[in-house]
Amino acid sequence: MSSNLTVIVLAAGGGTRMRSKTMKVLHPIAGRSMIGHVLAAVQAMQPERVVAVVGHQRDQVGPHITSLMPEAVLAVQDEQQGTGHAVRVAVEALTGSSEGRTGTAVRGTVVVAYGDTPLLTGESLRAFAAEHEAAQCAVSILSGIVARPFGYGRVVRDEDGDVLAIVEEKDATPQQREIAEINSGILAFDAEFLVEALPRIGNDNANGEYYLTDTVQLARDAGLTVGAYPIDDVMQTEGVNDRVQLAALAREHNERIVTRWMREGVTIIDPATTWIDSDVVLERDVTVLPGTQLLGATVVAEDAVIGPDTTLKDCEIGAGARVVRVHGELAVVGPSAEVGPFSYLRPGTKLGSGGKIGGFVETKNSVIGDGAKVPHLSYVGDADIGEGTNIGAGTIFANYDGVAKHRTRIGKHAKTASNNTFVAPVEVGDGAATGAGTVVRRDVPAGALAVSAGPQRTIMGWALRRRAGTPQARAAQAAGAPVEGEPGEASHDADPG
Ligand code: UD1
Ligand code: CA
Repeated sequence: MSSNLTVIVLAAGGGTRMRSKTMKVLHPIAGRSMIGHVLAAVQAMQPERVVAVVGHQRDQVGPHITSLMPEAVLAVQDEQQGTGHAVRVAVEALTGSSEGRTGTAVRGTVVVAYGDTPLLTGESLRAFAAEHEAAQCAVSILSGIVARPFGYGRVVRDEDGDVLAIVEEKDATPQQREIAEINSGILAFDAEFLVEALPRIGNDNANGEYYLTDTVQLARDAGLTVGAYPIDDVMQTEGVNDRVQLAALAREHNERIVTRWMREGVTIIDPATTWIDSDVVLERDVTVLPGTQLLGATVVAEDAVIGPDTTLKDCEIGAGARVVRVHGELAVVGPSAEVGPFSYLRPGTKLGSGGKIGGFVETKNSVIGDGAKVPHLSYVGDADIGEGTNIGAGTIFANYDGVAKHRTRIGKHAKTASNNTFVAPVEVGDGAATGAGTVVRRDVPAGALAVSAGPQRTIMGWALRRRAGTPQARAAQAAGAPVEGEPGEASHDADPG
């Protein structure tokens, strides 16, 4: 690869067909913006300089590009007068000259790409630039042979196959419109030629725009070589103009990611309903069941089984864990742990090795220790639960007093009973226990049993007196309940144990 490579990424266009408040190139595919994908491919070329041309909604696009690639130069194209004009603006940003001649910053090879081609890979860009440099062309075209060339610039060749020009759809003759070889939009230039040619591009065409593609004709007129290299995988250079294309390319991109993971040793039962973001990492022998989305920076260790119907964003799943019908974000699940079905893991959830978060349990900012279990119908917020502890069904960690959040700490090997409320801040010691329905407001020392539900009152014959004539009263009577006039009352202590 050339030691002197400049890449220009064009992203000034409006993308009006997206009909969106969000600038086109910022729409995401597989957890990255479209331009994020392009910049990742560009990064793989290890270029010396990258210039991004921004215009429409540059307040959105500029900072986004800078966040992904701080070293990229932003060139502002106020009015979108065509791709030739856009590249001129980029070169001026590097040379600091409207003539584009005085500066020496642009040498070697210049590659121009668009910000809306999310499937483009660094490998393809590298191969194209290498071909361009090896052939010592003034201009090289990354072309494509497509079944429906409508809308693209056509690559016009002579009888010997030498490239003569790129003719845009609107300017093409009916004969030229039959040409199946199109300009993908990705071009490579000899920098010296480009800098010299840019000011000579006119706008005398059907669109009244400065076409970068006119450089091909200019090179030919000067007797210089032009190359065109059809890319096999034309999807890589396909752009997104509307949300229909966004969905189509997202699906294609996903299929590629899913296929790659299967080749790496991951079992994916249903590729069509499995969505995996670009930055996700899966170890060997992971199994992904249908309807699963693995998003963001999620990492899944070997032998874990994820799904069905699970969404994990930025989660870390340990080896051999089982995660069934779960929605999780920024959560850590330890090795051999079990989660689900129907659990909601919110940020800061950390489940230890062999632990369990069961059905209809919501967790947040909580550490649940090794082998600890929250099996049923509970809310665990701002809690530390020690190893081996079991939390009873229907338990609420009341972490919010209406003003501030507080933590609950439960020790190791504690057994708390069903339907408890822990009113934070509160602590329960190691090996402690609670009775059913306990509202724990005060600390429970290690080994103690806390019971707060009052003694049970049983009022005999109540249904017959208060619900007379109803099916309830009739059922009670049929079961031999005491009849009217004997309002006997008995009570006994609830047995909390
Ligand atoms: C362009 C090519 C065409 C090629 C097609 C591939 C030219 C004249 N035509 O046509 O040969 O087949 O791409 O998709 O180059 N942009 C700017 N500033 C501008 C104009 C465009 O930054 O002033 C950016 C756009 O945001 C977009 C890209 O350049 O990312 C292409 O522009 P677009 O208007 O879509 O070009 P096409 O007409 O599709
Ligand atoms: Ca286009």
